[in-house]
Amino acid sequence: METAKEFKKNIPRTLCEEITGQVPGKEFTLKGWVMRYRDHGGLVFIDLRDYSGVMQIVFDENIKGESFKTAKKLKNEYVVSVTGTVRNRPGGTENPHLKTGNIEILANAVQILNTCETLPFQIEEETEVNEFTRLKYRYLDLRGKRLKDNLIFRSKFTYLIREFLNNRGFFDIETPFLTKSTPEGSRDFLVPSRLNHGHFFALPQSPQLFKQILMVSGFERYYQIVRCFRDEDLRADRQPEFTQLDMEMSFVEMQDIISVTEELFTGIFEKLLNIKIDLPFRVLDYEEAFDKYGSDKPDTRFELIITCLSDIFTNSSLNLFKNVISTGGTIKAICFPNGSNLLSRKDIDDLLAVVKDFGGKGLAWTKVGENNSLDGGISKFVNDGEKASLIKRLAAKNGDIIFYQADTKKTANTVLGRLRLYLAKKYNLIPENRFDLLWVVNFPLFEYSDEEKKIVSVHHPFTSPAKNDLAILETDPLSVKSDSYDLVLNGEEIGGGSVRIHNHALQEKIFKILSISPDDVRLKFGFLLDALSFGAPPHGGIAFGIDRILMLLRNENSIRDVIAFPKTQKAYCPLSDAPSPVKDAQLKELGIRLYDTADKNIK
Ligand code: AMO
Repeated sequence: METAKEFKKNIPRTLCEEITGQVPGKEFTLKGWVMRYRDHGGLVFIDLRDYSGVMQIVFDENIKGESFKTAKKLKNEYVVSVTGTVRNRPGGTENPHLKTGNIEILANAVQILNTCETLPFQIEEETEVNEFTRLKYRYLDLRGKRLKDNLIFRSKFTYLIREFLNNRGFFDIETPFLTKSTPEGSRDFLVPSRLNHGHFFALPQSPQLFKQILMVSGFERYYQIVRCFRDEDLRADRQPEFTQLDMEMSFVEMQDIISVTEELFTGIFEKLLNIKIDLPFRVLDYEEAFDKYGSDKPDTRFELIITCLSDIFTNSSLNLFKNVISTGGTIKAICFPNGSNLLSRKDIDDLLAVVKDFGGKGLAWTKVGENNSLDGGISKFVNDGEKASLIKRLAAKNGDIIFYQADTKKTANTVLGRLRLYLAKKYNLIPENRFDLLWVVNFPLFEYSDEEKKIVSVHHPFTSPAKNDLAILETDPLSVKSDSYDLVLNGEEIGGGSVRIHNHALQEKIFKILSISPDDVRLKFGFLLDALSFGAPPHGGIAFGIDRILMLLRNENSIRDVIAFPKTQKAYCPLSDAPSPVKDAQLKELGIRLYDTADKNIK
């Protein structure tokens, strides 16, 4: 390269942001990308970007040598090495948005290390480029500050986790990816075996069975930051492969696992975000979470609490309310503060479609007026006694709007739960930069699946029933609570775990209640049952969704923004074009024949 001779060797490279606060006149060499290029005739300016930040470089035609000529050839995203001296920017040209905004480098040498083709989109600009293109050129998007900062934050986050757990005597132990199906309730990704035609590995949905087996082996404290694979419908908070912090401990009870987790998270919040979280975290009963927030992952950053009004409306003159109550349903409501000023009549009417989308049959409402009066909606059906009671119970004030659901308890809670989230988002009720961590406990052990027409586990089948409910396990399984806990952050489930069954006979009983045939049990979980019969200690654990936590801590809307190489909504990677077809020879080796898509047997 033409400037090679001028290029001073052996000057250690410095990062852009290291230069802040340095004495004018000092010489540095910076290496990075041309982020912005401005040619002002006798002066050329570039903003040079490296991973630490940005530095303005000035090339002056009056500086002797080749550097000015080379500077004229630079283009966006060329890779360069620049040597020059620091100086203060002339008064009035400082950039308060940059950490290095008071200084610049006056270049005396530049070397082009690589050129760059015309870009498919401008780096750093949040333009309307579709996500497919951004993912196809993911390396360019990652060159920008937002995503880069997210991944650097991620690296610090996992480092702190490892540091904490290593100091607490946890061992980091890897478990297989080529394994058997694990029952986390999702579809498996399968891998065909070349050496055993017709046999398949399943990629682990989590390391659940192996971490329990490690407890049987006596490791006592295990953790892993590990990839999990689930073939499920994707959403903003789901990826087909995602990362868990997975933990397991022996000779512990629920409170021990809760305490370690709380210590881990408060430490990380303090070190990474300088935020102090109060201990212990709030604990909500599963039932209470549903009754008050309509969800088992309540967002508690704002109120809009769901309140039961059934007793007030037992003799309602509104037939709908009366009928629902007499057929075992409930009347529940949320009181939206200042709603009359925020929502027009049309806004209220439009909510009906929203509520129907959430599974509601309709939406009754009343406005609260002066002197505890009610206006509009169903107010003419509410008598004075009912009015006084409900205003008192909801602590309703002039200007509020009350939204009612009359339905089964489950539907009323779920619909109002979703409505409260909808209203909070739409009318900005959610405070920024607030992190609400809470535990949800006392989940039922089982639930009835309308889809599968049988009892299924709420968590997974290795979860221990609550000790007090063991007596009713077989007679009334749907009333049995479990020894499990979920950790919720700002309305997202960021982790879940349980005390496990360590007794072989009890584990078999659970499989029976779940109607898993003895043959299937043997086939799927025989190795776990065997392990449990060889001196398994009492144990329990938890797993956290690292991507989800990072999405929340970085204030992003999708976990894709905290993952280096995520997949699209259709589980496709535009960068590598995976998944893609394979050669017939490869399939033959695996003993696999593809169905023709025209084959009538394929649906
Ligand atoms: P669970 O299935 O609740 O528990 O998963 C633990 C946490 O993993 C995160 N998570 C996901 N994140 C991104 N994309 C996904 N598709 C996805 N699925 C789950 C969630 C969730 O809380 N073996 C048990 C844990 C245990 O019992 O110890 C398990 O995997 O944040």
